[in-house]
Amino acid sequence: MKYDIGDIKLAAEGKFRIEWASRQMPVLKLIQERFSKEKPFKGMRISGCLHITSETANLAYALKAGGADLVLCASNPLSTQDDVAASLVKSGFPMFCIKGEDNKTYYSHIMAALDHKPQLTIDDGADLVSTIHQERTGLLRDVIGGTEETTTGVIRLKNMARAKKLKYPVIAVNDAKTKHFFDNHYGTGQSTIDGITRATNILWSGNVVVVAGYGYCGRGVARRAHGMGARVIVCEIDPISALEAAMDGFQVMPLMHAAALGDVFITLTGNRHVIDRAHFARMKNGAILANSGHFNVEINIPALERMATAKRRTRRLVDEYELAGGKRIYLLGEGRLINLAAAEGHPASVMDMSFANQALGLEYLVKNKGRLKPDVYPVPLETDNEVGLLKLKSMDIVIDKLTREQQKYLGSWEEGT
Ligand code: NAI
Repeated sequence: MKYDIGDIKLAAEGKFRIEWASRQMPVLKLIQERFSKEKPFKGMRISGCLHITSETANLAYALKAGGADLVLCASNPLSTQDDVAASLVKSGFPMFCIKGEDNKTYYSHIMAALDHKPQLTIDDGADLVSTIHQERTGLLRDVIGGTEETTTGVIRLKNMARAKKLKYPVIAVNDAKTKHFFDNHYGTGQSTIDGITRATNILWSGNVVVVAGYGYCGRGVARRAHGMGARVIVCEIDPISALEAAMDGFQVMPLMHAAALGDVFITLTGNRHVIDRAHFARMKNGAILANSGHFNVEINIPALERMATAKRRTRRLVDEYELAGGKRIYLLGEGRLINLAAAEGHPASVMDMSFANQALGLEYLVKNKGRLKPDVYPVPLETDNEVGLLKLKSMDIVIDKLTREQQKYLGSWEEGT
């Protein structure tokens, strides 16, 4: 079996962490049990490009239980948990991922995962799909469909579909309510604060934290930072999101103003060069910069490199840039998603729902083989609701049901006051 990982000797440690995560993933466990009886992926080749974490390992086991022949590569050069990768190799999965790999290795690992000639793809950020469509077009004829995990990936895929370049159906797992209402909000909220804390050990209380982007991720981070005692400023380009931030009690202002006030800056926009040269120039000495959006393009790092008169690594994952005049700015995790670079990514409990949607989305593609034309599709509403109900059940929460009278009332229009 071919593989390329950091250190196979870490396998035992990884196994414990995978087991620990599985305790918090009851919904995925139920799906795994059903898959092991029904074998929906019997003999099917799947290539997955995901953050290689203990939660992803549990998704891998669920798919394998369903009969899948699965290969995994990393969806980010810094997000791999080497111990998990080692444990998965020991369990028979070909793995291509090393924490800290350079861009060249990252893409060669995507190529290695594609050598598996997938019939289904799992993506997180759309690098696998875009590589097949640009460099491995010969593989397209075997692909039934794919799933996409994150906001940025869904945006890329929709752009591909609009340009008529997408050649197979993809399920936008991110857009399921049981994904982005929880994973993006609570998962990114907590784990981004965790990542920055582990990288810097700062006290949040009293610090001015500037959050760029008040989408599902940004609002989670803003609320968690506020909860830790930080004074939070939100920067947005969308009037409605900006208004929500203001009415949620945050200060809202252009980033150019916030640049001079912030102690910690966090980007979660999915956009490019949100923090740029002019902002660096206005920042206070000691400002800390972190990104939790999918790609490392949100902070204009090349511009920061050019402005710097000196650079040194002051802590693991903390680079100090000295600018003319002696001001120092600290960039965390090379601008890559800080919750995965410096911490462990989202807690398993929230990935339980995201990966339940992944597993059920892949099953849906197999069941509908040949019926879906190339496009981006939502997770079916019934699947979304089923995942929500199962999660509630696992939390011992019971909810009310509509009475027959209420159902009738909600379906009518005749009755007023
Ligand atoms: P979203 O679309 O809900 O929110 C993005 C927000 O950023 C929008 O409100 C938009 O108006 C705003 N924005 C765009 N350009 C801006 C600019 N120049 N300045 C200020 N605000 C701007 O997206 P979501 O779900 O919050 O995702 C954000 C990013 O985080 C994406 O790249 C996504 O893939 C990634 N993500 C990262 C995770 C992690 O584990 N770190 C988990 C889930 C998503």
